Amino acid sequence: MSEQPVIQIRNLRKTFTMGKQKVHALAGVDLDILPGSLTVIMGPSGSGKSTLLYLLGGLDRPTNGTIQVNGRYLDQMDENDLGLFRRKSVGFIFQSFNLIPSMTAMQNVIFPMRFTGVSNKERQKQAARMLSQVGLAKRALHRPTELSGGQQQRVAIARALVNNPPIILADEPTGNLDTTSGFGIMKLLSKLNLEGRTVIVVTHDMRMCQFASNIIYLLDGLTVSEAEYEAASHFEIPEEEPEEV
Ligand SMILES: Nc1ncnc2c1ncn2[C@@H]1O[C@H](COP(=O)(O)OP(=O)(O)OP(=O)(O)O)[C@@H](O)[C@H]1O
Ligand SMILES: [Mg+2]
Repeated sequence: MSEQPVIQIRNLRKTFTMGKQKVHALAGVDLDILPGSLTVIMGPSGSGKSTLLYLLGGLDRPTNGTIQVNGRYLDQMDENDLGLFRRKSVGFIFQSFNLIPSMTAMQNVIFPMRFTGVSNKERQKQAARMLSQVGLAKRALHRPTELSGGQQQRVAIARALVNNPPIILADEPTGNLDTTSGFGIMKLLSKLNLEGRTVIVVTHDMRMCQFASNIIYLLDGLTVSEAEYEAASHFEIPEEEPEEV
């Protein structure tokens, strides 16, 4: 028996309108993600990777098409349901960490638990457990400026995990890190995957592929085969057309 996908994306489109210009960031994406898989999404700048991840995380809504997560359509959720989905079902990791600078590592990790009805004591306990899972037990009282880039990203991962979401979405999580810290983050994402979570990572770093169960290639808002992707990468991507004078 074939396994049911945890995520089903059908004819997903996102069009941004800028004045008279329309940008088709996603132009009809179909994608199935199996539970417990680690998917790497690759594509040149502007190909729609972040847009896809944002829609999957319920951070934005599509222009057209559907996303089903565990059999539920995100487009049919109202803002309340979508808020709950963002807190409970997915953990989002950004390239730029997005930590709250005035808060300690511990307070940052506790933050997503604020609407969950979990007691204060239990929040502290859970946050401490997450920080120790990412190897930062001793840095709980440090603020982001007192942490290295790799440590900040590990705090962000602890924060993404604290409500125990079954799905982790990471948008170039190693983009702002040096090579060694970046690889540490990749191994951590792989560990979370091996523990049973579904992980989707946007990255340019080929080293992530060794941990991947599948690789998705995006070009101009559409998924393409590896061969098509390879063929396209032989062409220079033209820069913006020069303005007429
Ligand atoms: N909020 C927005 N308003 C207008 N256009 C947008 C918006 N967000 C994205 N776009 C456009 O949609 C296209 C896809 O953007 P997206 O951020 O998904 O690309 P990406 O693959 O993540 O690129 P990068 O590797 O540079 O992060 C781009 O052409 C971008 O200019
Ligand atoms: Mg992006």
